[in-house]
Amino acid sequence: MTTATGTRTTRKGAVGTAHTRVEGLDKVTGAARYAGEIPFADLAHGWLVLSTVARGRIRSLDTAPVLAMPGVLTVLHHENAPRLDTDYIGLLGVPPDPTCALFQDDRVAHRGWPVAMVVAETSEQAREAAESLVVHYEQEPHDVDFCADRADAYELQGHMPAVTEKGDLAAELAASAVTLDEEYTTPEEHHSMMEPHAATALWDGGRLELVDSNQGATWIVGELANLFSLDPSAVRVRSEHVGGGFGSKGVRAHQVAAVMGATVLHRPVRVVMTRRQMFSLTGYRSPTAQRIRLGADTDGRLRALEHLSLSQTSTVHEFVESCAAPSRVMYDADAHHTVHRVVRLDVPTPTFMRAPGEAPGSFALESALDELAEKCGLDPIELRLRNEPERGPVSGLPFSSRNLAACFREGARRFGWADRDPRPGVRREGRWLLGTGTAAASFPSNAGPSTAVVTAEADGTFTVRIAAADVGTGARTALLLVAADALETTTDRVRVRIGDSDFGPAMISGGSMGTRSWSWAVTAAARELRERLALGADTPPEGITVRSDTTAAVRALTGKERHSFGAQFAEVAVDVATGEVRVRRMLGIFAAGRIVNPLTARNQLVGGMIWGISMALHEAAARDRADGGLYGPDLAGYHVTSHADVPPSIEADWVDDPDPDDPVGIKGIGEVGIVGAAAAIANAVWHATGVRHRDLPIRPDRVL
Ligand code: MOS
Repeated sequence: MTTATGTRTTRKGAVGTAHTRVEGLDKVTGAARYAGEIPFADLAHGWLVLSTVARGRIRSLDTAPVLAMPGVLTVLHHENAPRLDTDYIGLLGVPPDPTCALFQDDRVAHRGWPVAMVVAETSEQAREAAESLVVHYEQEPHDVDFCADRADAYELQGHMPAVTEKGDLAAELAASAVTLDEEYTTPEEHHSMMEPHAATALWDGGRLELVDSNQGATWIVGELANLFSLDPSAVRVRSEHVGGGFGSKGVRAHQVAAVMGATVLHRPVRVVMTRRQMFSLTGYRSPTAQRIRLGADTDGRLRALEHLSLSQTSTVHEFVESCAAPSRVMYDADAHHTVHRVVRLDVPTPTFMRAPGEAPGSFALESALDELAEKCGLDPIELRLRNEPERGPVSGLPFSSRNLAACFREGARRFGWADRDPRPGVRREGRWLLGTGTAAASFPSNAGPSTAVVTAEADGTFTVRIAAADVGTGARTALLLVAADALETTTDRVRVRIGDSDFGPAMISGGSMGTRSWSWAVTAAARELRERLALGADTPPEGITVRSDTTAAVRALTGKERHSFGAQFAEVAVDVATGEVRVRRMLGIFAAGRIVNPLTARNQLVGGMIWGISMALHEAAARDRADGGLYGPDLAGYHVTSHADVPPSIEADWVDDPDPDDPVGIKGIGEVGIVGAAAAIANAVWHATGVRHRDLPIRPDRVL
């Protein structure tokens, strides 16, 4: 038998070294199967039917002609679907969104509301029948009008307080030599990940099994067990490969529909959403209207910081886009005031979308800081450094680590910021006006409870099992490096298995907490296993298995402000003839904990920055007031940044910033890459043209 403890003094740690994705070859050769591709015997196919009205009641459905169509097995709707239990609080601490509690009543809460599902032998038959189903509605007037001055807006808490107040804002504003009061807006934005939502459900020996694309098997088990009144041990969710999530892949209509189909038909049922259905059924980022008021002394020191944010929610479920979150941690001011409000509209429920709150919130705050720097005649980096807080400016808590100043210094050095002429609109190259901009980034750094199972196999290798979800980030590979170090072995002797709820409860891939939370559990189990092996016992044929549970450890993470930080830099060229903005260069320097795998970390951060280009210049879902739906809800009509929009010079790097309270030093890099990116670009557009853009996206028609 070989133990893993013999190489302690000579082995170089795996964490911090570049490692290509474990499953990369499988993915690029097509060997990796996604949820909608895994074959099942006797598989039936469900196709969702969505409402064509924006509000009302289902009067009747003409199911008879559809049931007579080739291959059709059943049509499920509110009169015949299995009953669900919706009276519970789920893993995220909120009741289920009724949009996922399918077919329980005749209500239509928004355009694109699920009203029925046709199940047929083939997906083509199901689609044709679903598109033929005539649904009669009683239409009611709808309201989808999001605007800043809604009188019916109300404060909403969500996962953080709706209001924070410190000091006397009015007095500090009155005493300020320099003030700013501006409004910023961001549009409705959609996740649009590559792999659509897809699930296959089947009953196997009294257990419900779901093969699904999601951000956390534990999460989906919990929701389905509650909805279908099952013991969680009677539900198994697997999700080996996930083609993107970005906050959208929690419990959604397709999983519930697939389980209903399998329950009624006693055979496996698969439901795959179309791209257009995803625009109604899988959440999105709410439009926001934000007002920022700043007051400062002539030296740029902030006396007052107010951030008021309005977002929308649906009439059936509450969700708040917490845009003021960055204003609670970024800058010192004598007085702070932040408020999150929402308005209920006849629209789909918005949800978490990469850096929820911080992405649109940082656009407003970091644009406002740039405007204040201009008014104070200060360099925008210098302004930020002058307002660096010693402790959380609202919470009063110490930071676990911050290092924002280090990010700005390193970024400024590498970007060549010192040579910048601060005057706007004075650099011209042919028909292009040139400018540079910067902005700060932050995102909370937390951990969630997880369990991991690590086995020392009889052949001297190790198997790690954890219900982690690799949504494309490289989490599986990061866990391999973490496990190898904790086991004091090499990566070739460790295999990591993820994406199966039978491995025990684990944190979701969300909130930038996945890799950190799972690494903690893997490290705990691996260290204990190593200690057991060090005692020298022979490994039995079935191996030695240790299971960890980090619930108590992560709950002890209190008493500090915990965030990842970053400094974003952008250079743009603005075509004075067409109004087109081209990003020429981007650099992001982050303080985001210990970096586990520099290769995939760079992917993750640069990916966020590219999404920032998309947010700054391209993305906007436009809702039609008349019919309550979106114009062009697909990737033809919804414009996202493409390769041709991304500059060859886009770089992400980091400063040394290990988290002092994490066993591996991880903080989380999932979302911070997009934060501040749009503001850096908008600030660069101002520097190029002398015109402020406070409404995203900065489309050519707005530039001219
Ligand atoms: Mo992220 S928006 O928490 O998946």
